[in-house]
Amino acid sequence: MVVIARNLAEGARAPCILRLPTSGSAAMPEVLVVYYSRGGSVARLARHVARGIGEVDGMVARVRSVPPVAPVTQAAAPPVPDDGAPYVEARDLQECTGLLIGSPTRFGNMAAPLKHWIDGLGGDWASGTLVGKPAGVFTSSSSQHGGQESTLLSMMLPLLHHGCVIVGIPFTEPLLSSTRTGGSPYGASHVAGARDDQPVDDDEAYLARALGRRVAMLAGRLA
Ligand SMILES: Cc1cc2nc3c(=O)[nH]c(=O)nc-3n(C[C@H](O)[C@H](O)[C@H](O)COP(=O)(O)O)c2cc1C
Repeated sequence: MVVIARNLAEGARAPCILRLPTSGSAAMPEVLVVYYSRGGSVARLARHVARGIGEVDGMVARVRSVPPVAPVTQAAAPPVPDDGAPYVEARDLQECTGLLIGSPTRFGNMAAPLKHWIDGLGGDWASGTLVGKPAGVFTSSSSQHGGQESTLLSMMLPLLHHGCVIVGIPFTEPLLSSTRTGGSPYGASHVAGARDDQPVDDDEAYLARALGRRVAMLAGRLA
């Protein structure tokens, strides 16, 4: 079944075509992309990661987001986000063959909403939902040296607890050595500027696609 889902935090400008599995049927293997994005930069990077997944024969991206968390009172998330990808559900993790998670850099670490989602995955950890599945990470920050790499590493730690096979970007990608903005061996990244308004540049987009391709390729081999 092919559906047109709302685009990643960019309104209706460029609809994101996602293939969702028909329940109970042998659908194409999917790689799950889960992100949190408040200002839209991580969502934009997620779109490039998803494109890379789609470049691998027979692989499909399933893009999901996580809701914000309320700092003071407990608030139930609305069933559908105002914009961006649908919220991730338990079955998304169970059905994926690989996984990529993305978060803004916040004080050199992942943002609380993504961590909050991860902290709710105890059942999946116990049952081994993600064991042996390849996984990658991506981030966006305002400044180039504002903690992208520590954020990417912070996102890898719970993935290791879940038994994922961590996938980075090898230096055989020549752009990794020449990029003057984002992109690192630890994962894809974007330097969004102080106003969080810089577009994802060509190098960042290429390296994000390369990471998506690599996770999808390995997911296809390991599945
Ligand atoms: C609470 C908070 C902490 C942040 N910490 C950092 C930081 O440590 N380093 C940095 O470069 N940018 C930092 N930023 C900026 C965001 O990482 C940046 O704007 C990012 O692109 C936001 O992604 P989004 O548009 O997907 O929400 C911070 C922003 C907020 C709100």
